[in-house]
Amino acid sequence: MKPIQVGLLGIGVVGSGTFNVLRRNQEEIKRRAGRGIEITMVADLNVARAQELVGPDVSVVSDARAVIANPDIDIVIELIGGYGIAKTLVMEAIAAGKHVVTANKALLAVHGTEIFAAASARGVMVAFEAAVAGGIPIIKALREGLTANSIQWIAGIINGTTNFILSEMRDKGLDFGVVLKEAQRLGYAEADPTFDIEGVDAAHKATIMSAIAFGIPVQFDKAYVEGITKLGAADIRYAEQLGYRIKLLGITKRTHNGIELRVHPCLIPAKRLIANVEGAMNAVVVQGDAVGTTLYYGKGAGSEPTASAVIADLVDITRLHTADAAQRVPHLAFQPNALSNTPVLPMGEVVTSYYLRLRVADETGVLARVTGLLAEAGISIDAVLQREADEIRSESGSGQLQVPQTDVIILTHDCVEAKMNAAIAQMQALPTVLEPITRIRKEELA
Ligand code: HSE
Repeated sequence: MKPIQVGLLGIGVVGSGTFNVLRRNQEEIKRRAGRGIEITMVADLNVARAQELVGPDVSVVSDARAVIANPDIDIVIELIGGYGIAKTLVMEAIAAGKHVVTANKALLAVHGTEIFAAASARGVMVAFEAAVAGGIPIIKALREGLTANSIQWIAGIINGTTNFILSEMRDKGLDFGVVLKEAQRLGYAEADPTFDIEGVDAAHKATIMSAIAFGIPVQFDKAYVEGITKLGAADIRYAEQLGYRIKLLGITKRTHNGIELRVHPCLIPAKRLIANVEGAMNAVVVQGDAVGTTLYYGKGAGSEPTASAVIADLVDITRLHTADAAQRVPHLAFQPNALSNTPVLPMGEVVTSYYLRLRVADETGVLARVTGLLAEAGISIDAVLQREADEIRSESGSGQLQVPQTDVIILTHDCVEAKMNAAIAQMQALPTVLEPITRIRKEELA
């Protein structure tokens, strides 16, 4: 059988990795897929550079639409990124009857419903293993390997940049801003790192996993998103003293009231495997009712790790290319007409436990007033840590503080977020609470 022909839109880091791995492992991939898979056409704005990368046998053009219009191309790989021209090209490729492989999490998290509907109507596949956690086959695991399960929750370190920054903050005791600069200098963080450090990239990925896990439409606009920019070295240190690590987690959870979908820094017990995922690595924990807890670990970005996921999609499509469209694995794991309208809960209705840090005047009765407000709100305290005033003095650099002050750290049991917001507002209003209260959510992941 003649090889399946692939057109590549964008040959940057992931595109060149895809081209190289596909060529290097072509014989084994062919034995797996049942026929050869060849990138025969590439579109890239830098034609000369692209031609140099792929050699003279591959046609290189600057116009992506020429790839889509080529009747010999069976699969289009979109590696342009973003919601703009990438969306237009994906929709045009679908309309032209091409299968699409994409690593574009932003596009799918925001426009997935429209894209999957168009693909189903046209009888083509849109595959996106590379969109979540790079080389880790988490989409395949959720959609197929765990298909027997009622998924209960997913918690993932799904952004390598932020995990690298948090690891460095913990290792070196440095604050966020210092580590970010160093990460940019070393090339671990982008020149504009906003999507990573503000949690947006992780929220795109969590949104996609949530849809697949629970059979709901992709709803990025309902995700709660909080990044790591406000974290300080002190909180990482206190968490450590209490037996926890702080990680940026993407969490999605089934509850009686609806689906939780949130990205925020999170205390997790230091003894959990995922708490020990360091540097730019990714990891996802999935809890299913039948299987129990499962953990997936690996590189969430990079040229060949991401290419590994892109090529897995190419092989899947090649195998199913000629199959009856109704027999293919549904894009979001559930049949399109069986998606549920279970609501994604607003953050105020989410139930979790909390780490609170209050810089307070070190006076009689301050702790009693703070804990009294929590008790009145019906919030149960799990642990309290009061830092030695001497340590605060030495950190501030002055031997004598104007007002004697101390840090009070409180861990709470579970409570609904709206109740915690109200309690924090009341505590903040106390004249003896001297700085904005730090609140970090906590998950036991048990
Ligand atoms: N920027 C992402 C990360 C990789 O740092 O994990 C691509 O999603």
